Amino acid sequence: MAKQFQALPGTFDVLAPESARYGALVGRFARHVEAAGYGLVVSPLIEEVDLFRRVGESTDVVRKEMYDFEDKGGRHIALRPEGTAQVMRAYLQHHPQPPFKAWYAGPNFRYERQQAGRFRQHHQVGLEAIGTADPDIDVEVIALQHDFYKELGLIQVTLKLNSLGDATCRPAYRQLLLDYLTEHQDELCDEHKATIADNPLRVLDCKREPCIKATEHAPFQVDHLCAECKQHLDRVTQGLDALGIAYERAPRLVRGLDYYTRTTFEFAADALESAQNAIGGGGRYDGLGEALGGAPTPGIGFGSGIERILLACDAEGVFATDEVANAPDVFVIDTVGGSAARDLTAELRRAGIAADRAFDGRSFKAQMKQALRSNARLAVVVEDNGIELRTLTEKGEPEALDRATIVDHLRKRLDQ
Ligand code: HAM
Repeated sequence: MAKQFQALPGTFDVLAPESARYGALVGRFARHVEAAGYGLVVSPLIEEVDLFRRVGESTDVVRKEMYDFEDKGGRHIALRPEGTAQVMRAYLQHHPQPPFKAWYAGPNFRYERQQAGRFRQHHQVGLEAIGTADPDIDVEVIALQHDFYKELGLIQVTLKLNSLGDATCRPAYRQLLLDYLTEHQDELCDEHKATIADNPLRVLDCKREPCIKATEHAPFQVDHLCAECKQHLDRVTQGLDALGIAYERAPRLVRGLDYYTRTTFEFAADALESAQNAIGGGGRYDGLGEALGGAPTPGIGFGSGIERILLACDAEGVFATDEVANAPDVFVIDTVGGSAARDLTAELRRAGIAADRAFDGRSFKAQMKQALRSNARLAVVVEDNGIELRTLTEKGEPEALDRATIVDHLRKRLDQ
């Protein structure tokens, strides 16, 4: 027998009706952020591998998890692991008017160890605001993410906030931390014992007990900010307070990509297991434009995992599939064969009535089952001696329909 194929590990198919939630989530996100001036950016799935190397040399995402290959033209290509670097690349390439406010939705690829809520192809909705260093846009970005979760009905969400400083205060802080970690090197977990010099900040984010214990008294960037970074952070927290957005200070939050400066944040879904409870995160990346060969270009944004958001919705019992899945208005049941059901279904669709039907001349009982499964409100039964209307969502007697006025009659019944 020929081999039966399966989706690759860490990838999955999303079928209806579950896929309706994907569509509905992206639709809601689009309305939410377009109302705040963000326009859709559609980016390629492939980029030069160096684009990502440039922004994440010391991160797992870039070092260990990238899907990369040589194309037929000999170029070294990567499937994108995230969206920010390429939106910045697009900004530097096309020079749109700043602030360039762009949103996106789509797949990202990371060769991770597969587990609940962690996939090799995951999907994000996200946005970037490029070209302004104004702390009020930090507040705008965080508020949009916060309000989006709220709009979906999520309640058990915690915003964690930190500042990672900038080119003025980060180098001195980095050295301070490195000195502290070198002193405590023997107490760290095996991985970090060997790699502290690559990226000492990452040790603060390590979830292993030895690192947590060894860094109990470590210096944190937020206590070593320069005056400008401190002022920036104060303006952001004032804005969040004014908007009634609660946050927790998270001095250990360093995020998994290297480009962050100043404001960094993550939203945790408290209803999920803590290893995969980050439903979205982001921050400022004022050095990214220069790292990509452009002029100094401030920017801030966030990305949020669609699968993680939906897991959080399941855990809280909100934004359920049956709230958003599309059902037909009418299901056409054919008991006579021939072309009557085919033509009637087409006529209903052209009149704007959502209609579905059965095929293959199945029994009345089987078609009725299919109609019920479709969640249609009404069934139209084509019989030898006429057409009958049945209500599927509540009890009621069948009603004879006149073929000539069927569209008007159904419209009235459906309140269209
Ligand atoms: P990130 O934190 O790497 O940030 O990913 C954003 C979100 O994508 C995470 O919070 C999580 O919900 C989801 N996610 C990431 N990896 C996986 C995975 N393997 N499986 C399932 N979900 C995942 C970024 O990607 C940045 N580009 C965000 C950003 C935008 N920063 C500034 N602007």
